[in-house]
Amino acid sequence: MKLGIVKETRPEERRVAASPQVVGKWVKAGWEVVVEKGAGGDASYPDAQYEAAGATVVDRGDAWHADVVLKLRPPTVEGDACEADQMRDGATLVSYIFPSESPELVDKLAAKKLTVLAMDQVPRISRAQKMDALSSMANIAGYRAVIEAANRFGSFFTGQFTAAGKVPPAKVLIIGAGVAGLAALGAAKGLGAIVRAFDVRPAVEDQIKSLGGEFLTVSIQESGEGQGGYAKEMSKEFLEAEYALFRQQAKEVDIVITTALIPGRPAPKLWFADMVELMKPGSVIVDLAAERGGNCELTVPGEVTVHKGVTIVGYTDLASRMAHVASDLYGTNLLHLLDEMGGAKGHKVDHDNDAVRPALILEGGEKRWPPPKAPPKAEPPKVEAKPAAPPPKVEAPPQKLFHGHGGPAPKPPSRKVGIVMSVIGILAAIAFVCVRYLGTDGTHDVHTYQLLQHLTVFVMAIFVGFQVVWNVTPALHTPLMSVTNAISGIIVIGGLLNARGNYGLTNGVLVAIVATLFATINIAGGFLVTNRMLKMFRK
Ligand code: NAI
Repeated sequence: MKLGIVKETRPEERRVAASPQVVGKWVKAGWEVVVEKGAGGDASYPDAQYEAAGATVVDRGDAWHADVVLKLRPPTVEGDACEADQMRDGATLVSYIFPSESPELVDKLAAKKLTVLAMDQVPRISRAQKMDALSSMANIAGYRAVIEAANRFGSFFTGQFTAAGKVPPAKVLIIGAGVAGLAALGAAKGLGAIVRAFDVRPAVEDQIKSLGGEFLTVSIQESGEGQGGYAKEMSKEFLEAEYALFRQQAKEVDIVITTALIPGRPAPKLWFADMVELMKPGSVIVDLAAERGGNCELTVPGEVTVHKGVTIVGYTDLASRMAHVASDLYGTNLLHLLDEMGGAKGHKVDHDNDAVRPALILEGGEKRWPPPKAPPKAEPPKVEAKPAAPPPKVEAPPQKLFHGHGGPAPKPPSRKVGIVMSVIGILAAIAFVCVRYLGTDGTHDVHTYQLLQHLTVFVMAIFVGFQVVWNVTPALHTPLMSVTNAISGIIVIGGLLNARGNYGLTNGVLVAIVATLFATINIAGGFLVTNRMLKMFRK
Protein backbone atom coordinates (compact mmCIF):
# COMPACT_ATOMS: atom_id res chain seq x y z
CA MET A 1 0.00 0.00 0.00
CA LYS A 2 1.30 3.42 -0.96
CA LEU A 3 0.88 6.43 1.33
CA GLY A 4 1.17 9.89 -0.29
CA ILE A 5 1.97 13.06 1.63
CA VAL A 6 1.10 16.15 -0.39
CA LYS A 7 2.18 19.76 0.04
CA GLU A 8 -0.36 22.14 1.59
CA THR A 9 -1.28 24.95 -0.80
CA ARG A 10 -3.15 27.51 1.35
CA PRO A 11 -0.95 30.61 1.52
CA GLU A 12 -0.73 30.83 5.33
CA GLU A 13 -0.27 27.09 5.88
CA ARG A 14 3.23 25.99 6.91
CA ARG A 15 2.36 22.56 8.29
CA VAL A 16 2.65 19.23 6.50
CA ALA A 17 0.65 16.08 7.23
CA ALA A 18 3.57 14.18 8.80
CA SER A 19 7.14 14.63 10.01
CA PRO A 20 10.05 12.43 8.85
CA GLN A 21 9.95 10.69 12.29
CA VAL A 22 6.38 9.57 11.65
CA VAL A 23 7.21 8.60 8.06
CA GLY A 24 10.04 6.40 9.40
CA LYS A 25 7.50 4.51 11.54
CA TRP A 26 5.22 3.95 8.55
CA VAL A 27 8.10 2.65 6.45
CA LYS A 28 9.06 0.24 9.26
CA ALA A 29 5.44 -0.91 9.50
CA GLY A 30 5.44 -1.89 5.82
CA TRP A 31 3.92 1.14 4.07
CA GLU A 32 5.52 2.50 0.92
CA VAL A 33 5.64 6.28 1.47
CA VAL A 34 5.91 8.98 -1.20
CA VAL A 35 6.29 12.65 -0.24
CA GLU A 36 5.69 15.59 -2.58
CA LYS A 37 8.86 17.59 -3.24
CA GLY A 38 9.18 20.45 -0.73
CA ALA A 39 6.11 19.34 1.25
CA GLY A 40 7.78 19.79 4.64
CA GLY A 41 10.00 22.77 3.74
CA ASP A 42 7.98 25.40 5.63
CA ALA A 43 7.86 23.18 8.71
CA SER A 44 11.68 22.82 8.67
CA TYR A 45 11.56 19.25 7.39
CA PRO A 46 13.73 19.18 4.24
CA ASP A 47 13.20 16.47 1.62
CA ALA A 48 16.49 14.82 2.60
CA GLN A 49 15.05 13.97 6.04
CA TYR A 50 12.07 12.17 4.46
CA GLU A 51 14.43 10.25 2.19
CA ALA A 52 16.60 9.31 5.16
CA ALA A 53 13.44 8.03 6.86
CA GLY A 54 12.81 5.69 3.92
CA ALA A 55 10.32 7.71 1.82
CA THR A 56 10.62 8.59 -1.86
CA VAL A 57 10.39 12.28 -2.77
CA VAL A 58 8.17 12.62 -5.86
CA ASP A 59 6.38 15.20 -8.02
CA ARG A 60 2.98 16.55 -7.01
CA GLY A 61 1.02 14.31 -9.38
CA ASP A 62 2.69 11.12 -8.10
CA ALA A 63 2.03 12.00 -4.47
CA TRP A 64 -1.67 12.60 -5.24
CA HIS A 65 -1.86 9.21 -7.00
CA ALA A 66 -1.05 7.16 -3.88
CA ASP A 67 -3.52 4.60 -2.47
CA VAL A 68 -4.00 6.68 0.67
CA VAL A 69 -3.43 10.44 0.43
CA LEU A 70 -2.65 12.24 3.70
CA LYS A 71 -3.38 15.94 4.01
CA LEU A 72 -4.11 18.57 6.59
CA ARG A 73 -6.33 21.34 5.20
CA PRO A 74 -9.43 20.27 3.23
CA PRO A 75 -8.64 19.89 -0.49
CA THR A 76 -9.49 22.93 -2.57
CA VAL A 77 -12.41 22.66 -4.99
CA GLU A 78 -12.08 25.71 -7.18
CA GLY A 79 -9.98 26.52 -10.23
CA ASP A 80 -7.58 24.55 -12.40
CA ALA A 81 -5.56 23.39 -9.41
CA CYS A 82 -8.67 21.84 -7.83
CA GLU A 83 -7.12 19.37 -5.40
CA ALA A 84 -10.25 17.25 -5.16
CA ASP A 85 -9.70 16.25 -8.82
CA GLN A 86 -6.07 15.24 -8.34
CA MET A 87 -6.76 11.88 -6.72
CA ARG A 88 -7.17 8.67 -8.59
CA ASP A 89 -10.63 7.05 -8.52
CA GLY A 90 -11.34 4.74 -5.62
CA ALA A 91 -8.40 5.90 -3.46
CA THR A 92 -8.57 6.95 0.19
CA LEU A 93 -8.16 10.49 1.53
CA VAL A 94 -7.47 11.36 5.16
CA SER A 95 -7.61 15.08 5.91
CA TYR A 96 -9.60 17.82 7.63
CA ILE A 97 -12.89 18.00 5.71
CA PHE A 98 -15.46 19.89 7.88
CA PRO A 99 -18.28 18.10 5.99
CA SER A 100 -21.18 20.20 7.31
CA GLU A 101 -19.51 23.36 6.00
CA SER A 102 -18.26 21.95 2.69
CA PRO A 103 -21.02 19.98 0.91
CA GLU A 104 -19.52 20.92 -2.48
CA LEU A 105 -16.19 19.32 -1.55
CA VAL A 106 -17.92 16.18 -0.31
CA ASP A 107 -19.85 15.91 -3.61
CA LYS A 108 -16.65 16.31 -5.64
CA LEU A 109 -14.89 13.61 -3.65
CA ALA A 110 -17.93 11.33 -3.91
CA ALA A 111 -17.89 11.69 -7.70
CA LYS A 112 -14.37 10.20 -7.68
CA LYS A 113 -15.63 7.20 -5.65
CA LEU A 114 -13.21 8.03 -2.87
CA THR A 115 -13.13 6.74 0.67
CA VAL A 116 -12.74 9.81 2.87
CA LEU A 117 -11.94 10.10 6.56
CA ALA A 118 -12.19 13.50 8.25
CA MET A 119 -9.70 14.19 11.01
CA ASP A 120 -12.05 16.90 12.32
CA GLN A 121 -14.75 14.28 12.98
CA VAL A 122 -12.71 11.95 15.22
CA PRO A 123 -14.91 11.64 18.32
CA ARG A 124 -13.87 13.10 21.67
CA ILE A 125 -13.83 9.78 23.50
CA SER A 126 -10.94 8.44 25.58
CA ARG A 127 -10.13 5.67 23.10
CA ALA A 128 -9.81 8.14 20.24
CA GLN A 129 -7.65 10.70 22.08
CA LYS A 130 -4.50 9.54 20.32
CA MET A 131 -6.12 10.40 16.97
CA ASP A 132 -7.71 13.69 18.07
CA ALA A 133 -5.99 16.17 15.77
CA LEU A 134 -8.29 19.06 16.78
CA SER A 135 -7.10 18.72 20.37
CA SER A 136 -3.45 18.39 19.29
CA MET A 137 -3.74 21.61 17.33
CA ALA A 138 -5.81 23.45 19.96
CA ASN A 139 -3.14 22.62 22.53
CA ILE A 140 -0.50 24.22 20.32
CA ALA A 141 -2.75 27.21 19.55
CA GLY A 142 -3.36 27.84 23.27
CA TYR A 143 0.35 27.86 23.98
CA ARG A 144 1.09 30.06 20.99
CA ALA A 145 -1.65 32.52 22.00
CA VAL A 146 0.29 33.25 25.18
CA ILE A 147 3.51 33.71 23.22
CA GLU A 148 1.75 36.12 20.84
CA ALA A 149 0.31 38.03 23.81
CA ALA A 150 3.69 38.19 25.57
CA ASN A 151 5.27 39.43 22.35
CA ARG A 152 2.92 42.41 22.23
CA PHE A 153 2.64 43.12 25.95
CA GLY A 154 5.03 45.80 27.13
CA SER A 155 5.86 44.28 30.50
CA PHE A 156 6.85 41.07 32.27
CA PHE A 157 4.43 38.22 32.82
CA THR A 158 6.08 37.38 36.11
CA GLY A 159 6.34 39.95 38.90
CA GLN A 160 9.85 41.27 39.54
CA PHE A 161 11.71 43.02 42.33
CA THR A 162 14.64 44.86 40.83
CA ALA A 163 17.07 47.41 42.21
CA ALA A 164 15.18 49.99 40.17
CA GLY A 165 11.79 49.06 41.59
CA LYS A 166 8.95 46.55 41.72
CA VAL A 167 7.06 45.29 38.67
CA PRO A 168 3.69 43.59 39.33
CA PRO A 169 2.88 40.28 37.59
CA ALA A 170 0.61 40.39 34.54
CA LYS A 171 -3.02 39.41 35.06
CA VAL A 172 -4.37 37.06 32.42
CA LEU A 173 -8.02 36.15 31.87
CA ILE A 174 -8.84 33.03 29.88
CA ILE A 175 -12.36 32.63 28.54
CA GLY A 176 -13.22 29.01 27.72
CA ALA A 177 -11.17 26.34 29.42
CA GLY A 178 -11.26 23.63 26.76
CA VAL A 179 -8.09 22.18 25.30
CA ALA A 180 -6.80 25.52 23.97
CA GLY A 181 -7.81 27.45 27.10
CA LEU A 182 -6.10 25.02 29.47
CA ALA A 183 -2.94 25.03 27.34
CA ALA A 184 -2.95 28.85 27.46
CA LEU A 185 -3.49 28.73 31.22
CA GLY A 186 -0.52 26.41 31.71
CA ALA A 187 1.72 28.53 29.48
CA ALA A 188 0.74 31.85 31.13
CA LYS A 189 1.20 30.35 34.57
CA GLY A 190 4.57 28.99 33.49
CA LEU A 191 5.61 32.54 32.58
CA GLY A 192 4.63 33.67 36.07
CA ALA A 193 1.35 35.53 35.43
CA ILE A 194 -1.70 35.58 37.68
CA VAL A 195 -4.26 33.61 35.69
CA ARG A 196 -8.04 33.55 35.98
CA ALA A 197 -10.33 31.46 33.83
CA PHE A 198 -14.04 31.29 33.13
CA ASP A 199 -16.02 28.53 31.52
CA VAL A 200 -19.68 27.59 31.34
CA ARG A 201 -18.88 23.95 32.15
CA PRO A 202 -18.43 23.61 35.91
CA ALA A 203 -16.53 20.34 35.31
CA VAL A 204 -13.42 22.29 34.34
CA GLU A 205 -13.07 23.95 37.75
CA ASP A 206 -10.74 21.22 39.06
CA GLN A 207 -8.59 21.34 35.92
CA ILE A 208 -8.24 25.13 36.14
CA LYS A 209 -7.28 24.94 39.80
CA SER A 210 -4.84 22.08 39.31
CA LEU A 211 -2.97 24.23 36.77
CA GLY A 212 -2.76 27.04 39.31
CA GLY A 213 -5.54 29.20 37.88
CA GLU A 214 -8.41 30.91 39.65
CA PHE A 215 -11.85 29.72 38.55
CA LEU A 216 -14.27 32.64 38.11
CA THR A 217 -17.98 32.09 38.61
CA VAL A 218 -21.24 33.97 38.23
CA SER A 219 -24.10 33.88 40.71
CA ILE A 220 -26.46 32.12 38.26
CA GLN A 221 -26.40 28.32 38.50
CA GLU A 222 -26.58 26.85 35.00
CA SER A 223 -24.45 24.10 33.54
CA GLY A 224 -23.16 24.58 30.00
CA GLU A 225 -22.33 20.88 29.67
CA GLY A 226 -23.42 19.82 26.17
CA GLN A 227 -22.88 16.59 24.26
CA GLY A 228 -19.50 14.87 23.90
CA GLY A 229 -17.64 17.14 26.32
CA TYR A 230 -18.55 20.30 24.36
CA ALA A 231 -20.55 23.30 25.55
CA LYS A 232 -24.18 24.20 24.82
CA GLU A 233 -25.68 27.63 24.29
CA MET A 234 -26.41 29.45 27.53
CA SER A 235 -29.55 31.30 28.62
CA LYS A 236 -29.81 35.08 28.21
CA GLU A 237 -29.70 35.57 32.00
CA PHE A 238 -26.51 33.56 32.30
CA LEU A 239 -24.85 35.46 29.47
CA GLU A 240 -25.86 38.80 31.06
CA ALA A 241 -24.21 37.70 34.31
CA GLU A 242 -21.14 36.58 32.34
CA TYR A 243 -20.89 39.97 30.59
CA ALA A 244 -21.14 41.74 33.97
CA LEU A 245 -18.28 39.60 35.28
CA PHE A 246 -16.19 40.39 32.20
CA ARG A 247 -16.85 44.16 32.52
CA GLN A 248 -15.52 43.98 36.04
CA GLN A 249 -12.49 41.91 34.95
CA ALA A 250 -11.75 44.17 31.95
CA LYS A 251 -10.63 46.95 34.31
CA GLU A 252 -8.15 44.65 36.05
CA VAL A 253 -6.61 42.26 33.56
CA ASP A 254 -3.76 42.95 31.13
CA ILE A 255 -4.24 40.00 28.78
CA VAL A 256 -7.43 38.31 27.63
CA ILE A 257 -7.29 35.01 25.74
CA THR A 258 -10.65 33.92 24.38
CA THR A 259 -11.29 30.36 23.20
CA ALA A 260 -15.06 29.96 23.72
CA LEU A 261 -16.69 27.69 21.21
CA ILE A 262 -20.01 25.93 20.76
CA PRO A 263 -19.82 23.15 18.14
CA GLY A 264 -21.62 23.84 14.87
CA ARG A 265 -22.22 27.52 15.68
CA PRO A 266 -20.40 30.77 15.11
CA ALA A 267 -18.22 31.69 18.09
CA PRO A 268 -20.31 33.39 20.82
CA LYS A 269 -19.65 37.13 21.14
CA LEU A 270 -18.47 37.62 24.71
CA TRP A 271 -16.03 40.55 24.72
CA PHE A 272 -17.72 43.69 23.44
CA ALA A 273 -16.28 47.05 22.33
CA ASP A 274 -17.06 48.68 25.69
CA MET A 275 -15.10 45.92 27.47
CA VAL A 276 -12.12 46.56 25.19
CA GLU A 277 -12.39 50.25 26.06
CA LEU A 278 -12.44 49.45 29.79
CA MET A 279 -9.03 47.75 29.45
CA LYS A 280 -5.80 49.61 30.16
CA PRO A 281 -3.88 50.87 27.11
CA GLY A 282 -1.13 48.34 26.32
CA SER A 283 -3.39 45.40 27.15
CA VAL A 284 -3.63 42.53 24.66
CA ILE A 285 -6.52 40.33 23.53
CA VAL A 286 -5.79 37.11 21.65
CA ASP A 287 -8.97 35.76 20.07
CA LEU A 288 -8.53 32.07 19.25
CA ALA A 289 -12.07 31.84 17.98
CA ALA A 290 -11.25 34.34 15.21
CA GLU A 291 -11.73 31.73 12.48
CA ARG A 292 -15.36 31.26 13.60
CA GLY A 293 -16.05 34.98 13.77
CA GLY A 294 -14.29 35.69 17.05
CA ASN A 295 -15.36 35.98 20.69
CA CYS A 296 -14.36 39.64 20.68
CA GLU A 297 -16.62 42.05 18.83
CA LEU A 298 -13.64 43.95 17.38
CA THR A 299 -11.59 40.98 16.16
CA VAL A 300 -10.58 41.03 12.51
CA PRO A 301 -9.86 37.38 11.52
CA GLY A 302 -6.26 36.89 10.45
CA GLU A 303 -5.21 40.41 11.48
CA VAL A 304 -3.71 42.27 14.40
CA THR A 305 -5.57 45.53 15.14
CA VAL A 306 -5.27 48.18 17.83
CA HIS A 307 -8.34 49.79 19.40
CA LYS A 308 -7.76 52.67 21.84
CA GLY A 309 -4.37 51.28 22.81
CA VAL A 310 -5.55 47.67 23.19
CA THR A 311 -4.02 45.18 20.73
CA ILE A 312 -6.41 42.55 19.37
CA VAL A 313 -4.76 39.50 17.78
CA GLY A 314 -7.07 37.62 15.43
CA TYR A 315 -4.65 35.13 13.91
CA THR A 316 -6.34 32.04 12.52
CA ASP A 317 -3.11 30.12 11.95
CA LEU A 318 -1.68 29.83 15.45
CA ALA A 319 -0.93 26.11 15.18
CA SER A 320 0.65 26.70 11.78
CA ARG A 321 2.97 29.26 13.42
CA MET A 322 4.51 26.29 15.23
CA ALA A 323 4.53 24.15 12.10
CA HIS A 324 7.42 21.91 13.13
CA VAL A 325 5.80 20.42 16.22
CA ALA A 326 2.27 20.72 14.79
CA SER A 327 3.22 18.57 11.77
CA ASP A 328 4.78 15.97 14.01
CA LEU A 329 1.71 15.76 16.28
CA TYR A 330 -0.76 15.73 13.39
CA GLY A 331 1.29 12.98 11.74
CA THR A 332 1.22 11.00 14.98
CA ASN A 333 -2.57 11.35 15.08
CA LEU A 334 -2.68 9.99 11.50
CA LEU A 335 -0.30 7.17 12.46
CA HIS A 336 -2.70 6.04 15.20
CA LEU A 337 -5.71 6.33 12.89
CA LEU A 338 -4.05 4.15 10.24
CA ASP A 339 -3.07 1.64 12.94
CA GLU A 340 -6.70 1.55 14.13
CA MET A 341 -7.68 0.80 10.53
CA GLY A 342 -5.46 -2.29 10.39
CA GLY A 343 -2.07 -0.84 9.39
CA ALA A 344 -0.28 -1.48 6.09
CA LYS A 345 -1.18 -5.19 5.96
CA GLY A 346 -4.85 -5.14 6.93
CA HIS A 347 -6.01 -1.63 5.93
CA LYS A 348 -9.83 -1.52 5.96
CA VAL A 349 -12.79 0.53 7.20
CA ASP A 350 -14.30 -1.17 10.24
CA HIS A 351 -17.83 0.08 10.89
CA ASP A 352 -17.77 -1.39 14.38
CA ASN A 353 -14.78 0.72 15.43
CA ASP A 354 -16.38 3.54 17.42
CA ALA A 355 -13.20 5.62 17.30
CA VAL A 356 -12.97 5.53 13.48
CA ARG A 357 -16.57 5.20 12.26
CA PRO A 358 -17.63 8.79 13.15
CA ALA A 359 -14.77 10.11 10.96
CA LEU A 360 -15.92 8.18 7.89
CA ILE A 361 -17.45 10.63 5.40
CA LEU A 362 -17.44 8.60 2.18
CA GLU A 363 -16.84 4.93 1.45
CA GLY A 364 -16.16 4.18 -2.23
CA GLY A 365 -18.08 7.38 -3.02
CA GLU A 366 -21.10 6.42 -0.86
CA LYS A 367 -22.06 8.96 1.79
CA ARG A 368 -21.53 7.65 5.32
CA TRP A 369 -21.82 10.90 7.27
CA PRO A 370 -23.36 11.74 9.69
CA PRO A 371 -22.75 8.35 11.31
CA PRO A 372 -25.74 6.37 12.57
CA LYS A 373 -26.60 7.08 16.17
CA ALA A 374 -25.38 4.39 18.57
CA PRO A 375 -28.34 2.28 19.73
CA PRO A 376 -29.46 3.29 23.21
CA LYS A 377 -27.95 1.14 25.91
CA ALA A 378 -30.29 -1.57 27.16
CA GLU A 379 -31.84 -0.50 30.46
CA PRO A 380 -30.91 -2.77 33.35
CA PRO A 381 -33.91 -4.84 34.44
CA LYS A 382 -35.92 -3.01 37.06
CA VAL A 383 -35.88 -4.65 40.48
CA GLU A 384 -38.84 -4.01 42.72
CA ALA A 385 -37.60 -2.15 45.75
CA LYS A 386 -38.43 -3.91 48.99
CA PRO A 387 -40.03 -1.47 51.40
CA ALA A 388 -37.76 -2.46 54.30
CA ALA A 389 -34.51 -2.37 52.26
CA PRO A 390 -31.89 0.09 53.55
CA PRO A 391 -31.11 3.05 51.26
CA PRO A 392 -28.28 2.35 48.78
CA LYS A 393 -24.84 3.55 49.80
CA VAL A 394 -23.61 6.54 47.83
CA GLU A 395 -19.92 6.27 46.99
CA ALA A 396 -17.91 9.36 47.79
CA PRO A 397 -16.43 10.87 44.60
CA PRO A 398 -12.88 9.59 44.09
CA GLN A 399 -10.13 11.99 45.10
CA LYS A 400 -7.44 12.66 42.56
CA LEU A 401 -3.72 12.61 43.20
CA PHE A 402 -3.26 15.44 40.73
CA HIS A 403 -6.33 17.06 39.28
CA GLY A 404 -6.98 16.25 35.68
CA HIS A 405 -4.70 13.20 35.61
CA GLY A 406 -6.90 10.68 37.33
CA GLY A 407 -4.57 8.80 39.60
CA PRO A 408 -5.42 6.26 42.23
CA ALA A 409 -8.29 7.21 44.46
CA PRO A 410 -7.30 6.91 48.12
CA LYS A 411 -10.04 5.92 50.50
CA PRO A 412 -10.98 8.80 52.72
CA PRO A 413 -10.43 7.98 56.40
CA SER A 414 -13.50 6.50 57.97
CA ARG A 415 -14.89 9.02 60.41
CA LYS A 416 -16.27 6.24 62.60
CA VAL A 417 -12.84 4.64 63.06
CA GLY A 418 -11.33 8.04 63.86
CA ILE A 419 -13.99 8.74 66.50
CA VAL A 420 -13.60 5.28 68.10
CA MET A 421 -9.81 5.68 68.23
CA SER A 422 -10.13 9.14 69.76
CA VAL A 423 -12.54 7.87 72.44
CA ILE A 424 -10.19 4.97 73.33
CA GLY A 425 -7.24 7.37 73.46
CA ILE A 426 -9.08 9.83 75.72
CA LEU A 427 -10.34 7.03 78.03
CA ALA A 428 -6.83 5.60 78.30
CA ALA A 429 -5.44 9.06 79.05
CA ILE A 430 -8.11 9.61 81.80
CA ALA A 431 -7.34 6.16 83.27
CA PHE A 432 -3.65 7.03 83.29
CA VAL A 433 -4.25 10.34 85.06
CA CYS A 434 -6.54 8.63 87.62
CA VAL A 435 -3.99 5.94 88.44
CA ARG A 436 -1.07 8.35 88.47
CA TYR A 437 -2.49 11.15 90.53
CA LEU A 438 -5.72 10.00 92.16
CA GLY A 439 -4.41 6.73 93.64
CA THR A 440 -5.53 6.35 97.27
CA ASP A 441 -2.09 6.34 98.83
CA GLY A 442 0.26 6.53 95.87
CA THR A 443 1.44 2.95 96.50
CA HIS A 444 -0.52 1.31 93.74
CA ASP A 445 1.01 -1.42 91.64
CA VAL A 446 3.89 0.00 89.56
CA HIS A 447 3.17 -2.53 86.77
CA THR A 448 -0.40 -1.28 86.37
CA TYR A 449 0.93 2.24 86.15
CA GLN A 450 3.52 1.31 83.49
CA LEU A 451 1.02 -0.76 81.53
CA LEU A 452 -1.41 2.14 81.37
CA GLN A 453 1.35 4.53 80.40
CA HIS A 454 2.42 2.25 77.52
CA LEU A 455 -1.16 1.66 76.49
CA THR A 456 -1.83 5.40 76.32
CA VAL A 457 1.24 6.01 74.16
CA PHE A 458 0.32 3.04 71.98
CA VAL A 459 -3.28 4.18 71.40
CA MET A 460 -2.29 7.80 70.80
CA ALA A 461 0.40 6.64 68.33
CA ILE A 462 -2.17 4.58 66.40
CA PHE A 463 -4.56 7.52 66.37
CA VAL A 464 -1.97 10.04 65.18
CA GLY A 465 -0.53 7.56 62.66
CA PHE A 466 -4.00 6.82 61.31
CA GLN A 467 -4.84 10.49 60.88
CA VAL A 468 -1.51 11.25 59.19
CA VAL A 469 -1.21 8.27 56.86
CA TRP A 470 -4.84 7.95 55.76
CA ASN A 471 -4.98 11.56 54.63
CA VAL A 472 -2.02 11.04 52.31
CA THR A 473 -2.73 9.73 48.85
CA PRO A 474 -1.47 6.09 48.46
CA ALA A 475 1.04 7.01 45.73
CA LEU A 476 2.89 9.10 48.31
CA HIS A 477 2.95 6.44 51.05
CA THR A 478 6.46 5.26 50.14
CA PRO A 479 8.15 8.68 50.49
CA LEU A 480 6.08 9.31 53.61
CA MET A 481 7.09 6.05 55.25
CA SER A 482 10.73 6.46 54.27
CA VAL A 483 10.90 9.96 55.72
CA THR A 484 9.20 8.79 58.91
CA ASN A 485 12.13 6.42 59.30
CA ALA A 486 13.66 9.44 60.97
CA ILE A 487 11.62 8.35 64.00
CA SER A 488 14.37 5.77 64.40
CA GLY A 489 16.32 8.72 65.79
CA ILE A 490 14.77 7.70 69.13
CA ILE A 491 16.55 4.36 68.84
CA VAL A 492 19.81 6.15 68.08
CA ILE A 493 19.46 8.29 71.22
CA GLY A 494 18.51 5.24 73.33
CA GLY A 495 21.36 3.22 71.81
CA LEU A 496 23.92 5.96 72.47
CA LEU A 497 22.78 6.33 76.09
CA ASN A 498 23.08 2.59 76.67
CA ALA A 499 26.36 2.25 74.81
CA ARG A 500 28.20 4.32 77.41
CA GLY A 501 29.03 1.02 79.09
CA ASN A 502 30.06 1.85 82.62
CA TYR A 503 30.92 -1.81 83.09
CA GLY A 504 32.87 -2.44 79.85
CA LEU A 505 31.71 -4.16 76.67
CA THR A 506 28.71 -6.03 78.05
CA ASN A 507 26.06 -7.74 75.90
CA GLY A 508 23.76 -4.80 76.55
CA VAL A 509 26.33 -2.36 75.17
CA LEU A 510 26.86 -4.54 72.09
CA VAL A 511 23.14 -4.63 71.40
CA ALA A 512 22.97 -0.83 71.83
CA ILE A 513 25.83 -0.33 69.33
CA VAL A 514 24.19 -2.64 66.77
CA ALA A 515 20.81 -0.92 67.29
CA THR A 516 22.42 2.51 66.78
CA LEU A 517 24.11 1.29 63.58
CA PHE A 518 20.91 -0.15 62.08
CA ALA A 519 18.80 2.83 63.09
CA THR A 520 21.34 5.18 61.46
CA ILE A 521 21.24 3.13 58.22
CA ASN A 522 17.45 3.25 58.40
CA ILE A 523 17.37 7.04 58.74
CA ALA A 524 19.95 7.74 56.02
CA GLY A 525 18.34 5.19 53.65
CA GLY A 526 14.90 6.68 54.34
CA PHE A 527 16.02 10.15 53.35
CA LEU A 528 17.70 8.82 50.19
CA VAL A 529 14.55 6.96 49.12
CA THR A 530 12.36 9.97 49.91
CA ASN A 531 14.58 12.24 47.89
CA ARG A 532 14.53 9.88 44.93
CA MET A 533 10.75 9.48 45.07
CA LEU A 534 10.07 13.19 45.40
CA LYS A 535 12.32 13.89 42.39
CA MET A 536 9.80 11.94 40.31
CA PHE A 537 7.09 14.45 41.23
CA ARG A 538 9.21 17.54 40.60
CA LYS A 539 9.30 19.19 37.17
P1 NAI B 1 -13.20 23.30 23.18
O1 NAI B 1 -14.58 23.00 22.70
O2 NAI B 1 -12.42 22.24 23.84
O3 NAI B 1 -13.23 24.57 24.15
C1 NAI B 1 -14.12 25.62 24.04
C2 NAI B 1 -14.49 26.00 25.47
O4 NAI B 1 -15.29 27.17 25.45
C3 NAI B 1 -15.30 24.91 26.16
O5 NAI B 1 -14.67 24.55 27.36
C4 NAI B 1 -16.64 25.57 26.40
O6 NAI B 1 -17.25 25.12 27.58
C5 NAI B 1 -16.24 27.03 26.46
N1 NAI B 1 -17.35 27.96 26.26
C6 NAI B 1 -18.39 27.86 25.40
N2 NAI B 1 -19.22 28.92 25.56
C7 NAI B 1 -18.68 29.70 26.54
C8 NAI B 1 -19.06 30.91 27.15
N3 NAI B 1 -20.18 31.56 26.81
N4 NAI B 1 -18.28 31.42 28.13
C9 NAI B 1 -17.14 30.77 28.51
N5 NAI B 1 -16.73 29.62 27.97
C10 NAI B 1 -17.49 29.08 26.99
O7 NAI B 1 -12.40 23.89 21.99
P2 NAI B 1 -10.82 23.95 21.86
O8 NAI B 1 -10.38 22.73 21.18
O9 NAI B 1 -10.20 24.33 23.16
O10 NAI B 1 -10.65 25.18 20.87
C11 NAI B 1 -10.94 26.48 21.34
C12 NAI B 1 -11.00 27.48 20.20
O11 NAI B 1 -9.72 27.63 19.62
C13 NAI B 1 -11.93 27.06 19.09
O12 NAI B 1 -12.66 28.20 18.67
C14 NAI B 1 -11.00 26.57 18.01
O13 NAI B 1 -11.58 26.69 16.73
C15 NAI B 1 -9.89 27.56 18.22
N6 NAI B 1 -8.61 27.23 17.61
C16 NAI B 1 -7.99 28.29 17.00
C17 NAI B 1 -6.80 28.14 16.36
C18 NAI B 1 -6.18 29.36 15.75
O14 NAI B 1 -5.19 29.25 15.05
N7 NAI B 1 -6.72 30.53 15.99
C19 NAI B 1 -6.17 26.80 16.28
C20 NAI B 1 -6.85 25.74 17.03
C21 NAI B 1 -8.05 25.98 17.68
